Amino acid sequence: MSARGIILAGGRGTRLYPATAVVSKQLLPVYDTPMVFHPLALLMRAGIREALLISTPEALPLFRMLLGDGERFGMRLAYAEQDAPRGIAEALIIAEPFLAGRGSVLVLGDNLFIGNATPKLLRRALLRRSGASVFAVEVDDPRSFGVVNLDVSGRVLGLEEKPALPRSNLAVTGLYVYDGDAPALARALAPSARGELEITDLNRAYLGRGALAVERLPIGEHWYDTGTPDSLLAASILVRRIEENTGRKLACLEAIACEQGWISRAAAQAAGRASPGSPYGRYLQTLPELPGLELGVGAGR
Ligand code: TTP
Repeated sequence: MSARGIILAGGRGTRLYPATAVVSKQLLPVYDTPMVFHPLALLMRAGIREALLISTPEALPLFRMLLGDGERFGMRLAYAEQDAPRGIAEALIIAEPFLAGRGSVLVLGDNLFIGNATPKLLRRALLRRSGASVFAVEVDDPRSFGVVNLDVSGRVLGLEEKPALPRSNLAVTGLYVYDGDAPALARALAPSARGELEITDLNRAYLGRGALAVERLPIGEHWYDTGTPDSLLAASILVRRIEENTGRKLACLEAIACEQGWISRAAAQAAGRASPGSPYGRYLQTLPELPGLELGVGAGR
């Protein structure tokens, strides 16, 4: 059974208020596309075609309007509500019927991974089939993140949520691979002091079983949690720069589907003709004949 994707796109978005007063954070643009296109694009590049999008009761209809059933970009999308932000680990409980015992890739709707490496590391993690994998990146100040501490051979020694005195500078990003046990393990968690089911506690449960792997993003791979005005702007600027330099769009869903062989070039171009006034639409109409290799896409799993 192949793993299914979960995109968690609810939350409060308090750090972006008032931009998020009436609009969900993950619907705000990162340069030229809604933010949620990025985690979706990552799942697609890793070969995942079935995903569940979880958001608030207010925002869920808007995501549905934006993405539909996913067919136009070769995916099958389902939707589920999280009626209050009770923590990231609750996503596994909400997704339990959708997963039906399968493994999963959970990605946070405001996390952007820019570079060639992450889709490849994700494919590699998906080959593990049992246990959990997290994706860590070196940051200057890891105190606001989950922090993972490794020994010289890369074995996980410890995992802490927002430590005051971090034991390493490796932050855990918002991308996680789980085997089919995750919903049951998430149900066994108790809420933390801030009243949330913590994803770090779920990952610790895997660590306790000796079943937590860490994939390190290489230097040069960019990771943004676009939850603040500054990080949202920085991500937008980087996306624009890369797109200008390469002539490729990073989160053009129909183009990725075409590269993956999930939809025809003619279908992708037709999608572009539906919005001829936008750069996104024009890009699709003149979809470059380039192979997907530079972005780590196209290879079968
Ligand atoms: P956060 O950025 O930690 O929280 P937030 O989005 O509510 O933002 P703020 O802190 O500014 O209020 O959440 C990370 C991601 O996970 C984000 O995409 C929202 C999502 N999320 C949920 O969907 N449900 C939840 O219960 C939590 C805690 C987060």
